[in-house]
Amino acid sequence: MENYFAKFSAFGSFAPAKILTNQDLEKIVDTTDEWIRTRTGMVERRMASKEEAASDLAYQAALNAIEASKVKYKEIDMIIVATISGDHAFPSTSCILQHKLGLKNVPAFDLSAGCTGFIYACDVANQYVRNGQARNILVVGVEILTKITNWTDRNTCVLFGDAAGAAVISRAEPTDISKIIDTKIDADGSMGDYLIQMAGGSRLPASAETVEANQHTLTMEGNRVFKSAIKSMYASSDELLKRNNLSSADVDWVIPHQANLRIIEALADKMKVPLSKVIINIQKYGNTSSATVPLAIDEAIRKKKIRRGDILLLTSFGAGLTWGSILARY
Ligand code: UT7
Repeated sequence: MENYFAKFSAFGSFAPAKILTNQDLEKIVDTTDEWIRTRTGMVERRMASKEEAASDLAYQAALNAIEASKVKYKEIDMIIVATISGDHAFPSTSCILQHKLGLKNVPAFDLSAGCTGFIYACDVANQYVRNGQARNILVVGVEILTKITNWTDRNTCVLFGDAAGAAVISRAEPTDISKIIDTKIDADGSMGDYLIQMAGGSRLPASAETVEANQHTLTMEGNRVFKSAIKSMYASSDELLKRNNLSSADVDWVIPHQANLRIIEALADKMKVPLSKVIINIQKYGNTSSATVPLAIDEAIRKKKIRRGDILLLTSFGAGLTWGSILARY
């Protein structure tokens, strides 16, 4: 087995046009702009139209990432889509995306790790590039959670938005400054019920009764997830830094999952990283699950905040429960 390094060649993102504000939500459930802002940091989020499915958002984000990467379409040799709200239960959204992109005969598969999906997918892509089996992998995190939201549950319906973020992960040449330094993914299935879409799978197949009971929508024990989020993102980030003889002071940008501003602030505090070094866009998009991290990075690159050579720490957590981090020089 040959052993190479992988790098992030480029990022891309896409969010649907429709904006749903906190004021809009005030008209749907018993909530207030003040509660949402102070408890989550969210101000508005995007919402897919009736016609838009996950692969449509993924396609636009992928186009942006591929264009920015300068990698030719024919040089892409694998597609991984991280999603829990794909177009269909099957076929995979990645196969639909492969067809839309006009790519033939490249392996394509979906990966389910909730909001940690993009981190998991990058971890997998990193292994394929490192062992020489792939040279350029398209990784997408895409979610349309507004279509599996219970719009009568104020505990969850104010939190989520729709978007896609993509990256092209390529083999790093020996002269490249960019490389994925290290990755770490983790899971604890004993906490699976904290964040779950109960019906629609083989445990509880979709039926008129499950739809009537809203069991095809997501439910979350927010408080329990909150506590484990800070602990788990800190643990994997800390381990990555330690085993690479780095400290948080060496990191130029922390890009955390955007689930709650209070979680982001607590994590930054625990890591002793000033908020000026943390990429935050939760106010604009809410929680877009597996899309938050690549969407935040792509925006920061386009705003020329993140630059080539910067040390990045990506970290996320979500359904599973799952969590993980990536340390990379962009
Ligand atoms: O992406 C990965 C998974 N997701 C997360 O990471 C989310 C993690 N959890 C959270 O971000 C927070 O737990 C929430 C934002 C979901 C909730 O915030 P909280 O501070 O943990 O609130 P809570 O659940 O403890 O609820 C406090 C109160 C409750 O009222 P009572 O029982 O004290 O009278 C809720 O009913 O706030 C109430 N509440 C609301 N009030 C107005 C809950 N949702 C709302 C709402 N508007 N939208």
